[in-house]
Amino acid sequence: MPMLDISLTVNGHPVKATVEARTQLSELLREELNLTGTHVGCEQGVCGACTVFVDGKPQRSCISYAGDCDGSSVTTIEGFDDDALMDQLRDAFSRHHGLQCGFCTPGMLITARDIIVRFGETSAARIREELSGNLCRCTGYVGIVEAIEEVSKGKAALKSSIPVATTEKAVIAKPADAPRKASGAPTRSVATAPPAAAGVRKGWSSIEQRLNVGFPPEVVWDRLADIRQVSSCLPGAEVTELEGDRLKGLMNVALGPMKVAFNGDGKVLLDQQKRIGRLSGGGRDVGSGSTTEGELTWRVLQGESSDSLIQVSLSWRLSGRLAQFNRVGLVQDVIQRLASIFVSNLEASLKGEAISERSVKPLGLGSLMWGVFKARLVRWRGTESQ
Ligand code: FES
Ligand code: FES
Repeated sequence: MPMLDISLTVNGHPVKATVEARTQLSELLREELNLTGTHVGCEQGVCGACTVFVDGKPQRSCISYAGDCDGSSVTTIEGFDDDALMDQLRDAFSRHHGLQCGFCTPGMLITARDIIVRFGETSAARIREELSGNLCRCTGYVGIVEAIEEVSKGKAALKSSIPVATTEKAVIAKPADAPRKASGAPTRSVATAPPAAAGVRKGWSSIEQRLNVGFPPEVVWDRLADIRQVSSCLPGAEVTELEGDRLKGLMNVALGPMKVAFNGDGKVLLDQQKRIGRLSGGGRDVGSGSTTEGELTWRVLQGESSDSLIQVSLSWRLSGRLAQFNRVGLVQDVIQRLASIFVSNLEASLKGEAISERSVKPLGLGSLMWGVFKARLVRWRGTESQ
């Protein structure tokens, strides 16, 4: 198992560590740094007990690789000891009986603080929606929601939420047989740009990708202009009705123990001359009560030789129980994995080959995460040999 040397900031203190590629951030925090305020419940990214801030955004530390946090700033519940807003929340949680056993409380408080910072004064309905990624087995949520609502009263949304640290040093160096660097450029045929900062609607996430396909642009565009063909290449997707520029369809996704089937509709716009397509719409999963809105734009360009380059931009907003995945960096890896399956299915379809049965099945988070993990291992190993 490759070992990685990483440097990060935890609660304002610089930290150096040597970790296995599979080490989760929660393990580093709890077992190496003794920051046991970060609780670990499901270890599947579902319960929210392990939520910490990574670079100012709430993140599940149980499904975040420590190696990916190289260079990041992490704030755990202990990092809010002198934080005025967190003080108000702690006090309100006590007064409103927002905790019993306290297992969920660190994650609840971190998420609660993020809600108030992002929205300022907000309604109980909004709090329930935003808090839907944090599970509590004791309280029934009423006290938690009342506490957050009370603290939010009269507050305005803020831009920055994280207290910045002092200069004290806390350096950890775990012995390793063969320490290696974690950083390095990915070597993949699917390239990902960081989420676009400009033009992204408030509360939405965004990702841009460039996909190389080994066929000429006119051939690829013809296939991408056929929405039913596109959906047949995307795992879990199905177009059920298509009339003019309107469509109805299904998207099946399994995320850990949650299985959702988004039933939605949308509108497709195709610019044949510029080879640009746009699909916008939304859907709802009745079982989880989660809803999503999204917009997908694709553009087919000439590649470096006779191949094509597809520029894809995806923006989305999830609400309800799945909102917990909105701002998790892992979502970007999952989408990237879906994109690489899509490309290989598209190429198989263009060659007239059958799309492999496994690839068109709805994918669970487990298999997606394994694919993501393997890709990272290859990436890290590639870096080591340089
Ligand atoms: S322990 Fe991380 S989400 Fe449950
Ligand atoms: S207080 Fe016990 S799980 Fe929330």
